[in-house]
This record gives sequence, C-alpha cells and structure tokens, in this order.
Amino acid sequence: MNKYSRIFLGTAFTSQSEKEVKILQDYLFCIDDHGMIEKAVAPADPQYQTILNEYKDKECFHQLQDREYLLPGFIDLHIHAPQWAQAGTALDLPLNDWLHTYTFPLEAKFSDMAYAEKVYDDLIRTLLANGTTTGLYFATVHKESSFRLAEICAEKGQRGLVGKVVADDPEQNPDYYRDKDARTALAETEAFILEVKELAKTTKQGVYPVVTPRFIPSCSDEALKGLGKLAEKYNTHIQSHCSESDWEHGYVKERFEKNDAFALNDFGLLREKSVMAHCIFLEDDDVALFAETGTAIGHCPLSNAYFANSVIPISRFHAKGVDVGLGTDISAGATPSIYDNAKQAVVSSRMLEDGVDTSLSPEKRGVSDSRITINEAFYFATAGGGESLSLPIGRLDEGYAWDAQIIDTTKLPIFDNSEPLSDIFQKILYLVKAENIKQVWVQGERVK
Ligand code: GUN
Ligand code: FE
Repeated sequence: MNKYSRIFLGTAFTSQSEKEVKILQDYLFCIDDHGMIEKAVAPADPQYQTILNEYKDKECFHQLQDREYLLPGFIDLHIHAPQWAQAGTALDLPLNDWLHTYTFPLEAKFSDMAYAEKVYDDLIRTLLANGTTTGLYFATVHKESSFRLAEICAEKGQRGLVGKVVADDPEQNPDYYRDKDARTALAETEAFILEVKELAKTTKQGVYPVVTPRFIPSCSDEALKGLGKLAEKYNTHIQSHCSESDWEHGYVKERFEKNDAFALNDFGLLREKSVMAHCIFLEDDDVALFAETGTAIGHCPLSNAYFANSVIPISRFHAKGVDVGLGTDISAGATPSIYDNAKQAVVSSRMLEDGVDTSLSPEKRGVSDSRITINEAFYFATAGGGESLSLPIGRLDEGYAWDAQIIDTTKLPIFDNSEPLSDIFQKILYLVKAENIKQVWVQGERVK
C-alpha cells in the first residue's frame, strides 16, 4: 500500500509573498489520498532519494518533461456563468443599458435546462483548459439550473462556489426575470444551500453554495436582511457587486445615505467569507471595514476598464489588510483567462501610477504607489484568491490542495538553455495560452 496517492517531480513556481515568487527546482510533491500536498521535498533533503527510489517506477509517479513547469491552478473570484453565452458582445454600453438590453434577457433563458446545460458545460470545460481550477460563480435567479451548474462543476472536477442570484425588487428588475418576492427568494436560496451542501459530500474537491444578492439595487431590504441571516446560519460564502459604477454608487448613496460597504455590512453581508467584485469607489473607512470584517475584493481589471472606465489602487487596498483575488467578470470582461486579467492588472496599474504622461489632462496626476508587478498579479491569481475564499488553495506548498497547471514552454520564445527560471516564469505569465497548458489537476485529480 503506497503512502502517497501521487508523486510529481518537477520545477514549480508559487508565491512566497505578494512580491516574491518562490522557485522550487526539481522538487518532489507528495500528494495524499485527499488530494492535499503532504510534503514538498527539495533535492537536498535526505528523504528525496528514498521517496524517488520507492515511487519512480510506479504508475502514480508523474515526472515533468524537459521545459515543463508547474504553477498553482488559478482562482477566478468573479464570473457570471450564464453570460458566457454573450462573451465578447456589447462591451461599449453603459452598465445599466447593458444589463437591461443584453444581460437580463440572456439570463432569463436559463429557465431552460437544456440551454443552461449547453452553456455551463462549455464554460467549465473552457475554464479548466485555461488553468482555472476554482471558480466563484453567479448563476441566475433560477434555482434548478443554478444547481445544475454546481453539478457540472462537481462532475468535471472543478472546485465551484455557486450562487443562485437573488434579484427581487420589481422596480429594478424586469418582470420576466426576477424572484417573485423576497420570501420566495429566501426560501429558494435556503433550499439551494442545502442541496449544494448535499452535493458537496459526493465530491473530492468540494462545491460550495454562495449567498448571492446580485447587487444592492436589485434587492429589497427584506431580501438583503434575510440573505445576511442565511449566510450566518449556514456559514456560507457571500458574493455581490460593490461600488461598481457611477450610477450604482449614486443609487446606493441615495437609498441608504452611505456607501455600499456600510450598507452591505448593516445587512450582515460583509463577513470573513465575503467576496465583493469591483469596489471602485471605496473610501478609507470602507477599506478599513473590509479589512476588519475579512471581506475580500474580487479585482476585475478588464471589466473595470469597460464598464467603469476606472482603475483601482488595488495594491493600496491590499497593503491595508484587505484580501484580493482576480476575476474575469465574464461577460463584462470578454476573456475566460485569468492570465489575461493578471496582465491587465499590471497594465491598468501602470496607467494609474503617478508620473504617467499627463500632458492631455494636467490636473489628473494619478495615484502614487499604484503600480503592481507581475509577481503581485500572480499572487492575486493564486494565493490571494485562496485567502479571499478562506480555503487552502493557491499555493504549491505543504497543507494546500494539489490544484496545479503543467505548462509546456516548448512553443514559447525561449532560445537559450541558460535562461534564468525567474525570466521563464515571467514569459509564462505574459505569453501562455490555453494550448500551452498541457495538464490541469484539481485536488489531486486530472481534469485536463
Ligand atoms: N452589476 C449587476 N449585475 C451585474 C453583472 O451581471 N455584471 C456586472 N459586471 N456588474 C453587474
Ligand atoms: Fe459582475
């Protein structure tokens, strides 16, 4: 009987801290029966040869080929699964027009299980192919097809955190696409939570129910209050959109005479396992409240550019103790790739940084200390996402789940055998596409 269920031999990149990437050269990763990394063994370790000799001829031994490298699986902290069907369209509209002319009609179609099945199946396959091993999803208001999304994650081996969307306010949501009323929305959310918790017992990687008020404008006070109570009762994750656009931010200020953060907190919706998307207009006391409650930011740099024409000083928020991860925000961002969003996080931060060419608008000087490096973007895509979800994922270290991508660099522009690994790491982050991702593993199981 083997002590380990799998062993991987190869060179891995994983975050040491926000700014530093650790290079684990020719390490042995020993995976236990639950798909967790029990040991990461360096070549200089006295046990290395013993483990190698014992396992090297066994079927559970996986040796990476020349020019292959390991990265942790990526974590997408904000994604609207149904909107995969409109990815790449209507990115020039203002948010509220986009919601009413494109998004609500599309999401309404998810009462049709066959349609939902087709879209969700394709999305999860695509995300896994792009190295995303964990997704935090908004589904739609329909309980049945939202549950189907959780089942598809379970079947395909992805770690899915799934929310049945709540949107009950008849003034803000069209009659053809909303919850009947707050009571029904809460009853269905509770049933959904219980069903997903049952489903989770059948999976190795875990699937999780998420309390999901779409955003404050969509929901009545009664719904928001009830959702806060359900999250507490079942200790679930919570997700929503927070301080996202001029229109939305202004609407919340008018309704509650405070910013989103404080309004959400009043309803019990800022907790350790809360993830709020966007957070464009956070003021200092909002940031402090996030840090105090353990609420994380799902940073969606592409979507923020399209829909809020905005860049947020994400490194400042993070420095103040707020957990941060990255989100694609499909379809307000058009790409399923967290690689693309990591790159955009760097690019956007450079545009925000003080000292950019401001000759066209001299009054706008930018925000100092805004620039982030590719190492920080990698941190947000991996370890930061894990911290945001309070799950042991996002690092190739002992005690973390074996969620990993094997990257084949033979098609990347590397022409010199002596190229430093730190440079190869950067090329991977900037240049890898789905076709360079040879294998993907979640919780010790191969999913691509
Ligand atoms: N705010 C409310 N709903 C949505 C949505 O579906 N996408 C984005 N990006 N923002 C929202
Ligand atoms: Fe969104």
